[in-house]
Amino acid sequence: MTAVKNSIEVGTCPKVHGTIHVPGDKSISHRVVMLSAISSGISTVRGFLASDDCINSLAAIEALGCHVTRSGSELSIKGVGSELAEPHKRLDLGNSGTGMRLIAGLLAGQNFSCELTGDKSLRSRPMDRIQVPLERMGAKVELLGKNNSAPIRITGSALKGIEYSLPMASAQVKSCILLASLFASGRTLVVEPKPTRDHTERMLGLLGLPVTIDGLSIEIEGQGSEGLSLDARSWDVPGDFSSAAYWITLAAATEGAELTVDRVGLNPRRTALLNVLRRMGADIETSSADELHWEPVGSVDVRGKRLQGTEVGGDEIPNLIDELPLVAVAGALADGKTVIRDAAELRVKESDRIRSTATNLSAMGVAVEELSDGLVVTGGPGIKGGVELDSFGDHRVAMSMAILGMRAEEPISIIDGDCAGSSYPGFWDDVQRMTSDGE
Ligand code: S3P
Repeated sequence: MTAVKNSIEVGTCPKVHGTIHVPGDKSISHRVVMLSAISSGISTVRGFLASDDCINSLAAIEALGCHVTRSGSELSIKGVGSELAEPHKRLDLGNSGTGMRLIAGLLAGQNFSCELTGDKSLRSRPMDRIQVPLERMGAKVELLGKNNSAPIRITGSALKGIEYSLPMASAQVKSCILLASLFASGRTLVVEPKPTRDHTERMLGLLGLPVTIDGLSIEIEGQGSEGLSLDARSWDVPGDFSSAAYWITLAAATEGAELTVDRVGLNPRRTALLNVLRRMGADIETSSADELHWEPVGSVDVRGKRLQGTEVGGDEIPNLIDELPLVAVAGALADGKTVIRDAAELRVKESDRIRSTATNLSAMGVAVEELSDGLVVTGGPGIKGGVELDSFGDHRVAMSMAILGMRAEEPISIIDGDCAGSSYPGFWDDVQRMTSDGE
């Protein structure tokens, strides 16, 4: 693997074996940053994901008055309690929708105005989905970009609790409202259309907050900003299932592969990919590593098989939303058709992931059809490779295509693959290790 200009070459990987350890969970790392910022005292964090996205969130809370020290994946954050300091500049959340939407929830309950911005991709993503509920709670949220996007100016206020049925299945929006509800007076009830990742609810429960979950409803009793008091604590972040997913998929689709991913988060709201790969014929076992951890954590053992196409849709979608480009890759390597539906949210991720995945699969010679809310991929043996793919600046597209490239007959290259650093620093080193081990 060599880096030429901004293009990264990915060699083929005939043999997949060994044990891999992936960096910390991105969603949990973001939430740890947000909750530590509004806690009183020093929170300590082990296993923090030191990726570009999470580091931007750390810089944002520093600008809001927190004191942060970091050594690799260990952090200490001196929080400021419920009253954040007014920042002297716009907060730049880089590429991260999670960073922007979560911090907006905290800012909605403050007594100052603050602007949030991000890179070109983030400035093209819909922010009216947080504007509507935050304004109903009493904040002023101005969308200064085109088509309801960032920059955002948030003018905080004394918030009141609301009842809100989410129009889309989005853990980011749910979490934004839940964070704002901590500063609100009265009850907030959020109802999801489908179950999404529940890290925020778990963490609020750990902090001793009155959160009640009943099916798709989450209720929290706010005490108003003056009543909000969170004690700092220590957080231990498990490995990111979404990062593990690249290796799990590579191994699942490689006959004869034997791979273990250790100490990774196995929250069932994140691991629907395992069920999909099993349906496709993969042999996957999980074992629990730590019964006492506040998130399910364990290892995943994968033995590769020839895979068959499958259908993916409905309630499964939010629980593998970030893995859908990989499902398409698995489909390209499987026999028959793989159909992904109900996934229109993919169009508003870091790139339009339906379009970017379809473009790359078809450049690889795979038969693929774009649907308004998904993809139909017809797989089979003999992915040729020897082409240059485009990450479209999207970390998950870059990494998913690298996995397909590793199963191709000829090396491929990926333009602008550095964006993998948004969520998985060290990904390209792991690719190199895997491809050179396989020689
Ligand atoms: C995330 C939720 C998902 C996911 C994103 C991280 C989170 O987004 O795609 O990578 O940390 O809450 P949506 O909830 O908007 O689908």
